[in-house]
Amino acid sequence: MRQVGLLLGVFGKSQNDYLRSVKSFEEILKQGEFSQPDLVRMLKAEGADRTALFSAAAARKEAVVGKKVYFRGLVEFSNVCSKDCLYCGIRQSNSKVVRYEAADEDILAACRFAWENRFGSVVLQSGELSSSTFINRVDQLLRQIKALSKGELGITLSCGEQSRETYQRWFNSGAHRYLLRIESSNPELYGKIHPNNAHHSFEKRLECLQLLKECGYQVGTGVMIGLPFQTMDDLANDLLFLKQIDIDMVGMGPYIEHEDTPLYAYRHLITSKQERFDLALRMVAALRLLMPDINIAAATALQAIDPAGREKAVKIGANIIMPNLTPSAFRKDYQLYEDKPCLDEDADQCRNCLEARIELAGSEIGYGEWGDSNHFSRRQQR
Ligand code: 5AD
Ligand code: FES
Repeated sequence: MRQVGLLLGVFGKSQNDYLRSVKSFEEILKQGEFSQPDLVRMLKAEGADRTALFSAAAARKEAVVGKKVYFRGLVEFSNVCSKDCLYCGIRQSNSKVVRYEAADEDILAACRFAWENRFGSVVLQSGELSSSTFINRVDQLLRQIKALSKGELGITLSCGEQSRETYQRWFNSGAHRYLLRIESSNPELYGKIHPNNAHHSFEKRLECLQLLKECGYQVGTGVMIGLPFQTMDDLANDLLFLKQIDIDMVGMGPYIEHEDTPLYAYRHLITSKQERFDLALRMVAALRLLMPDINIAAATALQAIDPAGREKAVKIGANIIMPNLTPSAFRKDYQLYEDKPCLDEDADQCRNCLEARIELAGSEIGYGEWGDSNHFSRRQQR
């Protein structure tokens, strides 16, 4: 009997200590720094915790970067790609894809549209090529876009891994931001979603992010959320990775399976689209708390799952939207994943529709402004 009493005493004490040492979710949200377990709790938040996470992130966003949302007109100027990423619909080995390269005049017309409609910036995105023809072409385009917009349009590039010389050359010709997603910061997971060869090396990807920073770009990266083999720990580590490399901009969205890719064979390992969507929103909110002054894009992949997906992301932390300005004839051929939205709209329709939606999300559009990452300006001053 005495034994039992002793045991209960010991148990009771340690349980109280345990309860005292566990932070409440509300306490976690008020912190300025977050540990990996804190982030995992945010990523798993349900019910009242989820609501508290979203309102804390919304408040932090408004206090630090304000209510404005900036547009980056997206021009997917070529789907020709030398890579074979196992998740991507335009991978080189997908022979079903009709390959295109938009003509210079069409690309320039899309950029002119962006400038005339006071979008502030454009993003030129393509598959990854490293031929000198490709490098020269991008270089020429950059100069032409700068000229046609009297230097006013901001230009972001998203053309994959390149040499330091190429990055520097493009920077000198007018690109000032660069997007290159790490896809997953876990090298083992990266290895599972890319072919196992030197052309798809995790280390090279990391090195490129460093080179971009050294060349003077505002650098953006991001991950896919809900990949087969990916855990909550991986995602929390991804968030810490973004912080550790001191990134200026982030675009991250749900992984969406594509029938004509090798990763499709593992679709039984992924959660429902709705769950991936919810997880992506929690990732955006957690990142806004972790890195309050960066630019966070509302990924188009969110809209592939929920028509109001990007606006939902804007409400809880994102401040960048990339309306699609790709010439409509090519949109169907730039299908990175299933159900990619806005295939039939032209640029004007996209603009009107976006404006209405952003106002619904309680934000305003920063017309004619570059909307640079505050984090980048602070980084420059350090
Ligand atoms: N699902 C979601 N995002 C994808 N991307 C490529 N394929 C997919 C997919 N199946 C994303 C990658 C890439 C960006 C241009 O598009 O993160 O970096
Ligand atoms: Fe393309 Fe609305 S964003 S139609």
